[in-house]
Amino acid sequence: MAGLLAGKRLLVTGVITDASIAFSVARLAQENGAQVVLTGYGRLSLVERIARRLPEPAPVIELDVTNAEHLAGLADRVREHVDGLDGVVHSIGFAPQSCLGGGFLDAGWEDVATALHVSTYSYKSLAMAALPLMSPGGSVVGLTFDASQAWPVYDWMGVAKAALESASRYLAMHLGKQGIRSNLVAAGPLRTMAAKSIPGFEQFEQVWTERAPLGWNLTDPEPTARACLALLSEWFPATTGEIVHVDGGYHSVGA
Ligand SMILES: NC(=O)c1ccc[n+]([C@@H]2O[C@H](COP(=O)([O-])OP(=O)(O)OC[C@H]3O[C@@H](n4cnc5c(N)ncnc54)[C@H](O)[C@@H]3O)[C@@H](O)[C@H]2O)c1
Repeated sequence: MAGLLAGKRLLVTGVITDASIAFSVARLAQENGAQVVLTGYGRLSLVERIARRLPEPAPVIELDVTNAEHLAGLADRVREHVDGLDGVVHSIGFAPQSCLGGGFLDAGWEDVATALHVSTYSYKSLAMAALPLMSPGGSVVGLTFDASQAWPVYDWMGVAKAALESASRYLAMHLGKQGIRSNLVAAGPLRTMAAKSIPGFEQFEQVWTERAPLGWNLTDPEPTARACLALLSEWFPATTGEIVHVDGGYHSVGA
């Protein structure tokens, strides 16, 4: 099989609709020679239906990243489909409504803890759950929304992303000895289910499309997915703890 990811075996989390960034990653990965195993959270029959829209129908394993049993059993479940993993994609984020849309000052710890558990700590949990299947050259890739500054309405999700960016650097440090890389893609705003659940998210949309030097398409996750593929491939062999911006260049310009 030819392609950027020829012969690679990937675990891709985070597909819930065909607008999901993870769906584009899975589709492009298959088109580029990879074998893909998906994980699904919650509405598994929905994820299975979406999975059938991929070029090759992909198996779906149930995974709630906050569920210790799911994590403990993950490697064995993945082994039913592939004999190892060359890459893992973390495309997961969630924060209770109180944590978003301007609620920063009032959100309580229980809700903030949920946001951090699902959106941040899970990056490490997922990598460790998959580690028994990985070998030198392996790649872990996650998705962030540039957390170097505070954004309107993003609130505790922004804090979770800042911590995710740090967690990726620590993962890179701890797994480097085993030859495993950890990198993030900082995507611009995309109209996915996760984005639609953030009240006021549309505030980002107009400024982004107007100011990004290359412009920005809010409904096209493919540029983001392409960067994920590149980081999963052998073309970034000496890059780890890195954040690649796929945002039309927005982060690089002032107001
Ligand atoms: N959409 C954007 O504007 C944007 C921008 C930058 C980064 N991101 C990030 O991209 C990633 C993917 O989000 P998306 O925009 O494709 O939205 P999405 O809604 O399609 O995907 C989010 C996924 O998280 C999963 N999830 C939530 N809780 C989970 C849990 N406990 N266990 C396992 N999975 C769980 C959902 O099932 C869903 O598949 C997220 O990390 C998100 O923060 C999104």
